[in-house]
Parts: sequence; structure tokens; C-alpha cells
Amino acid sequence: MIDSKELQKKVRKAVSDKRFEHIIGVKDTAACLAMRYGADFDSAVIAGLLHDYCKPLSDKEMLSQAKRRHLPVSRTEQEHPYLLHGKLAAAYGREKFEIHDEDILGAVTWHTTGKPDMSLLEMILFTADYIEPNRKMIPGMEQIREMAFVDLEETVYMILKNTLRYLEETVDPSGIDQHTYETFDFYNEIHLRKKGD
Ligand SMILES: [Fe+2]
Ligand SMILES: [Fe+2]
Repeated sequence: MIDSKELQKKVRKAVSDKRFEHIIGVKDTAACLAMRYGADFDSAVIAGLLHDYCKPLSDKEMLSQAKRRHLPVSRTEQEHPYLLHGKLAAAYGREKFEIHDEDILGAVTWHTTGKPDMSLLEMILFTADYIEPNRKMIPGMEQIREMAFVDLEETVYMILKNTLRYLEETVDPSGIDQHTYETFDFYNEIHLRKKGD
């Protein structure tokens, strides 16, 4: 597997300054969360560095790259190809950087939509992507950042609740991936169960 310093150099060349800043923010936040929750530190760093590697691709390129690799493309992804950037980054990680750790590749694959019953590393990347320091201050962010170091499942629930509210208010709901709803339902259950205790 590629060393994180090497991967950082490759990523630097592939993305804009602004995106690189975001990626470094995610990498450092994922590293902090790995320390807090006892996840593998190097895996968190590598996943953070890799997660948006394919974001600069155009819609057309995303679709053709996915097709070339025989990756399954849902109807929502067909209509909103940027949703494929996680899956593609995982595929590139495997091919170009010899990253074969399934937990890292899973975290990168699912970082945009989340999925029900995520692993610790998957929840860490999903959370780090949302709360990293360069993110705009939006309603609820302060509470989410605080919760991230207290209870990760509750944090995932709060992020999904915020994301769905934002997406439903601002964009056409057809652009919301089914996985996002399924993930919300899963973490909402956990949230309700904890509240009932
Ligand atoms: Fe992303
Ligand atoms: Fe990101």
C-alpha cells in the first residue's frame, strides 16, 4: 500500500488548491477521530486523502470511468454522476495506489451517502468530511462538531438529519440517493433507542 506522504503528493497534483485544503482538513479530522475512538490511524489518514480524488472528473468522465470498470450505476447516479466520485476513488485507490484494505475502500466508497450499519472507519470518514475546519458554518454545525467527539452514531444521525433537511429545501429531491434515506432510517432507529433508554 502507498505511504500516506506519497499519496498526499499525488493528490496535491490531481486537485485544485481549494479541494486540497478540504482534503487535508478531512485527513486531519479523521486522524483526530481515529485517536478518540481507537480506529486504525494510518487507515483514517489514507481514507481522508483518497476520498475526493475523483471529484474533479466531469459528469461524462465519471460515467465512462464507472462503465469501463463495470461498476454498478443506479438511476440516481446516472442522473447525478458526482454521486459516483466515492466509488471511483476507491477503484483508483486499488488500481493506482495499491490500496486493498476493504475497510479503507468501503469508507471512501460510502463517504457521500453513508450506508446503514457503517464500520467505525466508515463513520469516521463520513463525519470528518462534514465537520472538517474549512467547512462553512451552517446551522447545527457547532453541535455536530461537539458530538463528533462524544458519540459517533449520534453524530452520523445528526449529519444525515441536517443533510436531508438541506437537500430537501434547496435541490430537487430526485438528487438524493436512496442510500442516504436508508442510512438515515438506520441511525434514526439507534437515536430513538438511545433516547428511550
Ligand atoms: Fe466527496
Ligand atoms: Fe469531501
